[in-house]
Amino acid sequence: MKLTDIKGTVTLANGVEMPYFGLGVFKSRGGSEVINSVTWALEAGYRHIDTATIYENEEGVGEAISKAHLNRDEVFITSKVWNSDQGFDNTLRAFDESLKRLSTDYLDLYLVHWPVKGKYKETWKALEKLYKDGRVRAIGVSNFLAHHLDDLIQDCDVKPMVNQFEFHPRLVQPDLVKKCLELNIRPEAWSPLMQGGVFDIKELQKMANKYSKNVAQVVLRWNLQKGIITIPKSANKNRIESNAHIFDFEISEDDMKAIDKLDKNRRIGADPDNFDF
Ligand SMILES: NC(=O)c1ccc[n+]([C@@H]2O[C@H](COP(=O)([O-])OP(=O)(O)OC[C@H]3O[C@@H](n4cnc5c(N)ncnc54)[C@H](OP(=O)(O)O)[C@@H]3O)[C@@H](O)[C@H]2O)c1
Repeated sequence: MKLTDIKGTVTLANGVEMPYFGLGVFKSRGGSEVINSVTWALEAGYRHIDTATIYENEEGVGEAISKAHLNRDEVFITSKVWNSDQGFDNTLRAFDESLKRLSTDYLDLYLVHWPVKGKYKETWKALEKLYKDGRVRAIGVSNFLAHHLDDLIQDCDVKPMVNQFEFHPRLVQPDLVKKCLELNIRPEAWSPLMQGGVFDIKELQKMANKYSKNVAQVVLRWNLQKGIITIPKSANKNRIESNAHIFDFEISEDDMKAIDKLDKNRRIGADPDNFDF
């Protein structure tokens, strides 16, 4: 992945250009909070917004994008089908409702939010239909482990182009990253900042001082140098801006490895093999 600037993209398996840096909006409240966050992000040059039906803020995301005086094709919008909407018909319906809330007539990326047992293959068939019908530019999965990917790929017509999963210095998952890259599925990190937990890791603070950067910037740059799309969330204007100031330095190979070594295989979110929602 060649890193240029905040608007830089990575080419997905089907040729679609996806900005490798974006804004996450999980826990940004619908209404003014999410509208402000997305507006500040777009003003700062972000061109990729990651939402989901379950975040209950798609309307605000759509409103901020519509008001931004940008062409629709300048912003990459991801949303996700929630677990209770899985299955073929339900997914098609959920997609239509997301489009309506987002005030758009297509999505750039639509993801299966979690690998709901007995459901995700049917859900995938719906995503394939949406893709073949031209209603979404790329389709993918989220929270899929290697065995979920193998299982899905056995039966699919269109392979997922992206897998979005929990990824941060305490959960590096080298085998899953390798597997995705081998399958030409682009890995994408969620909770790259461990929802704030990275700021307590003293080795990262030291490294941030060394590069005259803050911890968030070092961690986000580490994501990108590993070829991983990243979507940090912030609802604060200054932090939204500063999180994007990661294109003016490079982490050395030794320091990349030192961050990899902080791995403790520790999740802050649910285990994709054992979740009950
Ligand atoms: N697919 C999935 O299952 C899944 C699951 C979780 C998340 N996601 C996606 O991934 C995105 C990112 O993950 P996340 O929201 O869980 O967590 P995150 O991005 O790791 O961390 C967000 C937290 O860090 C704070 N923060 C951000 N930048 C900061 C900075 N520079 N200095 C200090 N604090 C900072 C934010 O507070 P402020 O807002 O106050 O700045 C917020 O509390 C989500 O928003 C969502 O789009 C997907």
